[in-house]
Amino acid sequence: MSVNVLVGIQWGDEGKGKIIDVLTSGAEMVVRFQGGNNAGHTVENGDEKHVLHLVPSGILRPGVPCVIGNGVVVDPIELKKEMELLRDRGVDISSIQVSSRCHLIMPWHKLLDAFNESTAAKGKKIGTTLRGIGPSYTHKIARTGIRGGEILNKEAFKQRFMEQGEAYNKLYVPAGATALDLEAAWKDIEPALDFVKPYIQDTVVTINEAAQAGKKVLLEGAQGMFLDIDHGTYPFVTSSNTTTGGACTGTGLSPRSVTRVWGVIKAYTTRVGEGPFPTELFDDMGEHLRTKGGEFGATTGRPRRCGWFDAVACRYSCMVNGVDYLAVTKLDVLDGLDTVKMCVGYKINGEIVRNFPAEACSFAELEPVYEDLPGWKESTENARSFDELPVNAQKYLERMAKEVNAKIGIISVGPKRDQTFALISDCLG
Ligand code: GDP
Ligand code: IMO
Ligand code: MG
Repeated sequence: MSVNVLVGIQWGDEGKGKIIDVLTSGAEMVVRFQGGNNAGHTVENGDEKHVLHLVPSGILRPGVPCVIGNGVVVDPIELKKEMELLRDRGVDISSIQVSSRCHLIMPWHKLLDAFNESTAAKGKKIGTTLRGIGPSYTHKIARTGIRGGEILNKEAFKQRFMEQGEAYNKLYVPAGATALDLEAAWKDIEPALDFVKPYIQDTVVTINEAAQAGKKVLLEGAQGMFLDIDHGTYPFVTSSNTTTGGACTGTGLSPRSVTRVWGVIKAYTTRVGEGPFPTELFDDMGEHLRTKGGEFGATTGRPRRCGWFDAVACRYSCMVNGVDYLAVTKLDVLDGLDTVKMCVGYKINGEIVRNFPAEACSFAELEPVYEDLPGWKESTENARSFDELPVNAQKYLERMAKEVNAKIGIISVGPKRDQTFALISDCLG
């Protein structure tokens, strides 16, 4: 079997889309397993730039089935828009499958997301993408959600839609949430349901069949470790398991099937939205990383918070995710610096800590312990092997791998497909 899981090691936006696209040259199926259109995965293919939100980033390689698994929350209106945009750009979308078990994002979920954020007490706002992700997962756990398979019976679907929409209006509008005009909302969503219907499948079966037939299956994580509902900086997280474990529950593949775990790791750190970020920089260096790295959200356009590489957080993340190989991205963004700092410990109440704290309150007391590493003046953008990298860049990567306790398998030195090289021969092992 060849089932590779790829996850984000930090706070999302590590460059997962690019690495999935690169790995898909050898893959036979690509599967999203959690999250929804809160994700924004960028793939630069020649002169074209695509930002994928729900459709797996393997879609630009013709003939590779792209599956939206049961763990994903799907907004049918947004999925239709994304698929139509891809089709209009000449991309073949016929291989897309949408799980009959995925939960759907309904119009009230988006209104609830906005309502929750706008009424949150000071310091409690999460800074969500406002895509309805949290409320949709809330209804999934409450066992009241509407699933993809229900699209197959439109009459029954409409009844559930009206009942749930009415319940939302009754419960939340008196509290100040925006009222939903249900007839108008149905008119909006009905064409999207019709559009998505032919793509609905029992993907648990199609994914398992592909894996058992020995096909190279690639599972594409969204967000990143520290946005995980269990392992992230709770409550400033998303509402799904973004870590490797989520790849099994979100596809129906058994943990025994997973043959390799890829962790995508940015050469520095970014975060969008609220919440702890130990190595965040508020000075000119933070601004430099944001400008040089083009650190603006692929989904919401918000400026990303930027900081130095945090080896303490990433070591913890690699442990939880069971990372075999790292794909290090955006090394080129560090080109030209005299010194590059790496956080190798945290000082909390005078004590040096080497583990990532569980409690959000600990972060207020936390001071990162940095080590200064010599930078490199040369550009890495044209390097296509480890040996072609400046010596200090090599040393930086070696130190990173040692600190986080994982091997480096891929290095990315620019947004384009060819600005990537592998350090191992069989990437989809
Ligand atoms: P994802 O959510 O993990 O897929 O990452 P995003 O697409 O949100 O953000 C990553 C950004 O960095 C995108 O604009 C990519 O085109 C870009 N990118 C990816 N790898 C590299 C790299 O090695 N160097 C540079 N300069 N940009 C990169
Ligand atoms: P990709 O897959 C970075 C963040 C939001 C917010 C928190 C909760 O592109 O890496 P949500 O809308 O999920 O309820 O928001 O999670 N967030 C992301 N940050 N990359 C993402 O996805 C993200 N998806 C959600 O900014 O802080
Ligand atoms: Mg992104």
